[in-house]
Amino acid sequence: MADLSTTFTGLKFENPYLLASAPPTESDANIIRAFEAGWGGVVTKTIGLHPVMNVKGPKTKFLRAQNSGTGLSMNRRGNETTLMASWNWELISDKPLDWWIGKLARIKKQFPTRMLVASIMAGSGNDKELHAWQTLAKAVIAEGCDALELNFSCPHMDRIDMGSNVGKDKVLCSVVTQAVKEVSTVPVWVKLTPATSNIVTEATATFLGGADAICSSNTWPSLPLIDPQTLDFEMSVEGYCSSGGLGGPAILPLSMAKMAQMTAAFPDKEFSGIGGVSTFEHALNYFLLGCGTVQVCTAAMLDHAIGPNVIKTLMTGMNDFMDQRGFQSLEDFRGLRRDRVVSHSQIKRPDTVDYHGGYEEEHEGYAKPAVTA
Ligand SMILES: Cc1cc2nc3c(=O)[nH]c(=O)nc-3n(C[C@H](O)[C@H](O)[C@H](O)COP(=O)(O)O)c2cc1C
Repeated sequence: MADLSTTFTGLKFENPYLLASAPPTESDANIIRAFEAGWGGVVTKTIGLHPVMNVKGPKTKFLRAQNSGTGLSMNRRGNETTLMASWNWELISDKPLDWWIGKLARIKKQFPTRMLVASIMAGSGNDKELHAWQTLAKAVIAEGCDALELNFSCPHMDRIDMGSNVGKDKVLCSVVTQAVKEVSTVPVWVKLTPATSNIVTEATATFLGGADAICSSNTWPSLPLIDPQTLDFEMSVEGYCSSGGLGGPAILPLSMAKMAQMTAAFPDKEFSGIGGVSTFEHALNYFLLGCGTVQVCTAAMLDHAIGPNVIKTLMTGMNDFMDQRGFQSLEDFRGLRRDRVVSHSQIKRPDTVDYHGGYEEEHEGYAKPAVTA
């Protein structure tokens, strides 16, 4: 068996796979099952201090494509479909901080070698909310949590001072991270929203605030499709819907693009890849771009709620890959393709043409195309 262990933000992981913050980690019972199944770590469902009330009715559905034909729907029509994405408008944990206290400590005591990361969220814009971040941080650290993940990324919070609205504001990214770093004795990871034009801007601000790692992506802002028969959104309450988050296979290439931007800009920083992973081949994309850990949500939700088969597949796939290629550790292949994402003008043109980066002739500011092997 190859050595799958790795060190990320100074923490020793038995394997680089975590359950992402979401329903699979919403309770102590789930987290215990996850550790028994072999996950190297879990990020708890995001914990906050404010009142949380979810919408009436279902919070998550799965979008599937018909295998023969062009159908695309959240409503199951036979078994001949392939999973395309999850869609949800679930808020953070509706269990108060007090509910988590005691349970986190017991989990950590039962699984001392597994990494227990607490996802936390408060508001922004005033000292009271900054103190709320600090209160949450101190409470979960006192429980023995190994790291914090700051949620700057939920795309559908009901409060405008929370979630992705923090992650879209570079000043808030810095200020909130710094406030948590001031009181934290454990590594602080930040989960950024992919819903900005240039994620390197927010990543820069977050690292300036002192973040130890960046995690990406959360789900992408999106709507459910409209049923052509009923003319209703496939997910709605009394006819109304609202922007929610897309996860699962559909977002793997989207999340990779965001991750590639950040790992290229910060080759020496630490990143956790999330989005669309259910097999080692999927996770490998994030490792080759430079990520040190990978997190999973949608695939685990669909596999006995916590992904016992998913984690098995991730580990055996990684083991086989390392054995076949003679890699001793993740470090031997982490980041191997980080430098292969370049600007469009740097992609080689046919030898027979005279190419000036899309301009008629060579001019100031145009970078010569890189000559690749
Ligand atoms: C139903 C549901 C609830 C989620 N809740 C949270 C949350 O509380 N905090 C958080 O940071 N991310 C949350 N996420 C986002 C996931 O952690 C993850 O970033 C996203 O689903 C992409 O990963 P995937 O493609 O493996 O699903 C949630 C996702 C889903 C589907």
